[in-house]
Amino acid sequence: MVARIIPVEPFDLVIFGGTGDLARRKIFPGLYRRLADGQMPAEARLIGAARAEMDDAAFRASIAVALEEFLPAGGLDPAKVAQFLDMISFVQIDATGDAGWSVLKKKMRRDVVHAFYFSVAPSLFEPIAKRLKERGIAGSAARIVVEKPFGHDLDSARALNRNLACYFDEAQIYRIDHYLGKETVQNLMAVRFGNMLFEPLWNSQYIDHIQITVAETVGVGGRGEYYDRVGAMRDMVQNHLLQLLCLIAMEPPARYDPDSVRDEKLKVIRALDSVEPDDIVRGQYAGGPDGPSYLEDVGDAKSRTECFLAMRLGVSNWRWAGTPFYLRTGKRLKARTSEIAIVFKDAPHSIFDVPRGRHSNILSIRLQPNEGMQLGVTIKEPGPGGMRLIDVPLDMSFAEALGERAGEIPDAYERLIMDVIRGNQTLFMRGDEVEAAWAWTDPVIAGWEARGHIPSPYDQGSSGPDDALMLLHRDGRRWREIRP
Ligand code: BG6
Repeated sequence: MVARIIPVEPFDLVIFGGTGDLARRKIFPGLYRRLADGQMPAEARLIGAARAEMDDAAFRASIAVALEEFLPAGGLDPAKVAQFLDMISFVQIDATGDAGWSVLKKKMRRDVVHAFYFSVAPSLFEPIAKRLKERGIAGSAARIVVEKPFGHDLDSARALNRNLACYFDEAQIYRIDHYLGKETVQNLMAVRFGNMLFEPLWNSQYIDHIQITVAETVGVGGRGEYYDRVGAMRDMVQNHLLQLLCLIAMEPPARYDPDSVRDEKLKVIRALDSVEPDDIVRGQYAGGPDGPSYLEDVGDAKSRTECFLAMRLGVSNWRWAGTPFYLRTGKRLKARTSEIAIVFKDAPHSIFDVPRGRHSNILSIRLQPNEGMQLGVTIKEPGPGGMRLIDVPLDMSFAEALGERAGEIPDAYERLIMDVIRGNQTLFMRGDEVEAAWAWTDPVIAGWEARGHIPSPYDQGSSGPDDALMLLHRDGRRWREIRP
């Protein structure tokens, strides 16, 4: 099964923060893969822009090193690498001053798509947007891509939206949430809205509860200073986990187009209940044989920032009233795994002699690793000896179902950048969506801050603090196991 790859139009893509971590780790390696795959046209030009003093040759050499470092060994074709590096140039630029802007302007070609990736601190969004517009570098068809964090709270997100709106229309602004670029996340929409099978059951009458887990094995590492100002709520829940929740909970959009999809997601965010203090568990990993504690990692023994968060929340609308959503995310947990589990109710009456509350029908959507879906069903245990029931998975691993093609699933970033070039905003957050997400997040954070809540310690390599288990136990439910 070979998917047809349609090349995008020729483009000039300027990456502000071109020497930064994200550019080296994700953006340039991703673009290389798009070129190797035939999606990025040979006429594309990539322009790194940063404060560093560097010429084209030095910048290209640094990108060559990044490709070696961040793409799988043996994944590089020397001829393609040479072609890719030839497409790249560098501009030394002062985001808040005058230097470099006229050089950048001269580099931009006519009659190609212009995209500007702001892989920089949010405080630089406005100065860069202003210079791009006022110096005539970005026209009315240009696109800008802005990275998270998009604000720290509702006020700052509103201010960012207002500032960007002075220079660019909403249709030109691409707010990235890289979770929306993950293969399985889009597949969630394909499965829900491309099949008859699930949608009739997709409501509180048939679904007992939903679990969303994004577990990581890494700690906060070198990002301690940034992370400690943010915490899991702002870093993961306000954006990635809420976006997943929206895709599960939204009504079927009339069309798969940017505003139809985003209108439906917005309605979900607006229907989220506020979260009661008893429905939230916050944690910090303790020190252990595997490494320092969270407090040591961030260098503040008194920090009250959470790097683990679990919560129970409701969506107050006709479809979901009565079906809780349990969200959980954390660092230094047992395994790196992201999973959405849709746990269906038991059959209304059992003709077999089996206990209630088995919840054998679970649709599990694995985002990573081993992207795929699994549906648990009850069957008769084979063999003689009466009617004994067992639960087995109907498994659809992408790697198995798609064979070789599964190995070529594009990384979230590369897919999203190609969407920018194509001018498709469906998988990007609209300004009102981001604001609504902050409007829900702010009071939850304010609530625990007002109570002076102190996160519970948990062991590295565990599933988080014990209180998180209780969150479900007291409802007569249990978390899915975190496993690789
Ligand atoms: C980022 C967060 O947005 O997502 C990180 O800032 C987190 O803290 C990362 O580690 C997780 O992304 P992924 O794609 O590795 O699951």
